[in-house]
Amino acid sequence: MQLTKYEEDMINGEYGEGKAECMEILVSLGKIYDAEKMVPITSAQVSGVSYKTIGDAGLDFVVDLGKKADISLECMLNPAGVDIENWKELGFSEEFAKKQIDIIKGYESIGVMSTCTCTPYLIGNTPLLNDHIAWSESSAVCYANSVIGARTNREGGPSALLAAIVGRTPYYANHIKENRKADIIFNVDYDFNNEAEIGALGYYVGQIVNDKKPYFKLNGNPGRNNLKLLGAALASSGAVSLYHAEGITPESEFARNHDNFEELEVVEVDSSIIKDNVEGLTTTDKTPDLVCLGCPHASITEIQKVANILKGKRLSKDLWICTSRATKSIADQCGYLDIIEQAGGKIVSDTCMVVAPVEDLNYEVIGVNSAKAANYVPNMCKLDVVYDTCENLIDMIIK
Ligand code: F3S
Repeated sequence: MQLTKYEEDMINGEYGEGKAECMEILVSLGKIYDAEKMVPITSAQVSGVSYKTIGDAGLDFVVDLGKKADISLECMLNPAGVDIENWKELGFSEEFAKKQIDIIKGYESIGVMSTCTCTPYLIGNTPLLNDHIAWSESSAVCYANSVIGARTNREGGPSALLAAIVGRTPYYANHIKENRKADIIFNVDYDFNNEAEIGALGYYVGQIVNDKKPYFKLNGNPGRNNLKLLGAALASSGAVSLYHAEGITPESEFARNHDNFEELEVVEVDSSIIKDNVEGLTTTDKTPDLVCLGCPHASITEIQKVANILKGKRLSKDLWICTSRATKSIADQCGYLDIIEQAGGKIVSDTCMVVAPVEDLNYEVIGVNSAKAANYVPNMCKLDVVYDTCENLIDMIIK
């Protein structure tokens, strides 16, 4: 690998033991993938935060690293296992919450912003087109590559953290323009009615393409919130890190003009495929005893929509809208938090229905409007799922 003088100096310890160790690991990683060089990054996003998924070993890793190195670029943290401020009210155990808060403090001590969100692009960590970044939350990776046109591989939490410390990542795969062309075309002759249908498309296509790059021909523009849900679904049933949507995403023209485009396989998607995949994600006939929206973490417009539905109504079951603390604070300023709380719902920040230990809270069935959540909840939380639209789910639990 060709390294700059600065990178060589880092490896040789001139900028401290921690940076030297991080560079060595990243260079070894780059060699595995035949990276010709390292590339400077403008931002990082680190997953592997919930105590539920990383346990004590993860906590030790962060604390050890914190003693040796720190971060100077924009680096945000993925959701944790609890709402840091309201864990007690939500029913999480003190033991779990304490461990979780220690992990977050460990990350803060290195210089990671403890935003605890999987939608960093909604709260200021918004890269520009062609920016090289190192992000690790799969739905955020998909959004950054596809909707923004920034360049990141699907980093693991540790490799994103190391990249944040040295400000570099190995230059391979999605960092190289040529590798960002489409692999397979999906001709979607269907007028989407709601977010559950868009998510079902992502869930279906992810299983077909795995880590390939789908190119969608859609009827109309689904909008940012739905593109967020589409990417999350693609990245959960498959390992998609980049998709193109004709005339919508910034590199779709590059993909369409590429000389291999006319030879690509074309898959037709019709209404029966969408319908089957919507239905297939529900695992029970029972009514949800918890409705959980905001996977990926809700935007302010998604919260506004819920507030408008709930105005003057009362809920008979629990409702969580998962989002970042920053977005919750905007919801508070706009009056949406009040409306939602008066109806009996909660805006839950820092965590979500998948990475929190929801299985310990005596729920049996979770209602979700995210195909990613519907895909993960049965395995990760051992609970049944009802997959439907935000409106229909709320309707099921209105008094
Ligand atoms: Fe985010 Fe949790 Fe979904 S981390 S993408 S809300 S599973």
